[in-house]
Amino acid sequence: MRVLQQSFFTSGRKVKPTETNSGPPTPPNHPFSFYQNPKITHGTAPLGTGGGFRLRHRRLRATAPLPGPKRGARHRSPEGRSLPGGRCPAAIFCHPPSEKAVAGGGPAALRVLIGEPRGQAPVPAAARSRRARHGGRLEEMEVGICKQDMLQKKKNAVLVDGVILNGPIMDSKAGEKFVEEACKIIMEEVIQKANDVTEKVCEWRAPETLKKILDLEMRDTGESHQKLLQLCQDVIQYSVKTSHPRFFNQLYAGIDYYSLVARFITEALNPSVYTYEVSPVFLLVEETVIKKMIEFIGWEEGDGIFNPGGSVSNMYAMNLARYKFCPEIKEKGLSGLPRLVLFTSEECHYSMKKAASFLGIGTENVYFVKTDERGKMIPEELEKQVQRARKEGSAPFLVCATAGTTVLGAFDPLDEIADICEKHGLWLHVDASWGGSALISRKHCRLLCGIHRADSVAWNPHKMLLAGIQCCALLVKDNSGLLKKCYSAKAAYLFQQDKFYDVSYDTGDKSIQCSRRPDAFKFWLMWKALGTTGLEERVNRALALARYLVEEIKKREGFQLLLEPEYANVCFWYIPPSLRKMEDGPEFWQKLHEVAPIVKERMMKKGSMMLGYQPHRGKVNFFRQVVISPQVSREDMDFLLDEIELLAKDL
Ligand SMILES: Cc1ncc(COP(=O)(O)O)c(C=O)c1O
Repeated sequence: MRVLQQSFFTSGRKVKPTETNSGPPTPPNHPFSFYQNPKITHGTAPLGTGGGFRLRHRRLRATAPLPGPKRGARHRSPEGRSLPGGRCPAAIFCHPPSEKAVAGGGPAALRVLIGEPRGQAPVPAAARSRRARHGGRLEEMEVGICKQDMLQKKKNAVLVDGVILNGPIMDSKAGEKFVEEACKIIMEEVIQKANDVTEKVCEWRAPETLKKILDLEMRDTGESHQKLLQLCQDVIQYSVKTSHPRFFNQLYAGIDYYSLVARFITEALNPSVYTYEVSPVFLLVEETVIKKMIEFIGWEEGDGIFNPGGSVSNMYAMNLARYKFCPEIKEKGLSGLPRLVLFTSEECHYSMKKAASFLGIGTENVYFVKTDERGKMIPEELEKQVQRARKEGSAPFLVCATAGTTVLGAFDPLDEIADICEKHGLWLHVDASWGGSALISRKHCRLLCGIHRADSVAWNPHKMLLAGIQCCALLVKDNSGLLKKCYSAKAAYLFQQDKFYDVSYDTGDKSIQCSRRPDAFKFWLMWKALGTTGLEERVNRALALARYLVEEIKKREGFQLLLEPEYANVCFWYIPPSLRKMEDGPEFWQKLHEVAPIVKERMMKKGSMMLGYQPHRGKVNFFRQVVISPQVSREDMDFLLDEIELLAKDL
């Protein structure tokens, strides 16, 4: 209540709390707090604060009239800027009419009610369309949301707490037009430019500059559609074009038109995938996709859940393995448990540490197993670590192998690791977030030889297969309902057992989420469009391009491979002319360490391409080129090397 009072009647005066507005004080930095933010001169009531009008009127009658803007005065934002539209759209808040006048339903009162400036008659429809033809189309759409509707219904106006309840308060026609215009921009500025190498990958601006270019401030009054469309253009202009053929920065890139359309559909339908009653199609789609992924892993049966990422899948798996190890943890919690230990390689994704800390296992209880020179876990070292943990009296429960490590793209030897897991009774989870897509390729699926022996697998089709972020599945070999047993909370308001349909399709209780996106759908539509052979072709082509790049690197002076890649991660140094004659030693490596960040800065400021670099386990900064997108061609590989040479020629 206090929020309301302080926000609506401010005009430079402090309003004392009354009995009606007793309540917790407004937090000091709350945007509606008058005491802390005396600049605010108007505002809208947060829903559920008790309704604005009556309260506000009572307040008005009890005090002297408050000064407000003059009729039709230029409306100013809290910062003093003249706002679009010129006249005060929030006249209602500045000059509230008497309750009687509003309840009486006179046209003036209604104009006030719907936010039309007082003293201005509603614009007749014919005049509005004339204006529309003369270029004022967008502003016209916004003139008084639902004004016409409201006026038509004024005779039957129903007011509750001063809020008119007749008809919707959204102008859907204007909204539809806005969507249409915005889609045109998306089509022209993102989709049609996705293949154009003459476009920049990024339009780099430093944060402070970008803040000045973009109008980020959110104000009390909404912006015009024209302004919003301009903002959309700005957002696109200054965002990184990850669908550009020269975006090689991360483990995702490119554009897939089918998964994009699937995303448009799901964004428009806005479903939540937990019960069959609200997501019948998407639940069946998810079931089908999970079944197919399980087939590729080589399990006869299994279970799974799409979730917000490989990191989350790894966390799911860690918790599931622990639940299998000690099911009572679900009710009893951590107390009384032995010291649980898990094993993963030194090259694992950092989400392993995060998961261990988040789940209360502790990062010290993640035992990192040594890798060979290619970044693969050494099975003998794993065996030693398990023995060590046992000797220490701790309780080993899980091994997390990686199929496709993040930096080097290495694949752990799954068969040998599975032997050790079987011997010690440990859950085997395979983080195939990056490398899982190789399963689709008959040529490259051998990289994951032995994956069928895993208990769980994390696989992100949003990486190599371009299904669009986020599209990630945790797949589990168990088919006895372990996932559900581990995660279910049996919320009675959602998962009623006496529904009129087969409630086994209400799969949401397997998830740690409540609302969940239909991420399987984009993968499904893409798979439908390309067929398995189309997906396979993508994987084969990405790996063939990576091979081409490797051979080119070997041929060119100044380029040096870190190692022969197994997958699509091509890691290399560029040694600029001035370093080529230097002796190998600390000074050389220090200077080389500085090359990649400088080249990266130059490529981003030019906008010509984006490529990642990092130091890694004792090695100085090197480039990591990741080939994914089917838009990328041999020419782009050549360009990449030429561009590095060009950007570093003076170094
Ligand atoms: C091997 C591996 N696992 C897990 C992840 C995390 O996946 P996400 O970004 O979907 O959380 C990554 C990300 O690159 C990865 O490379």
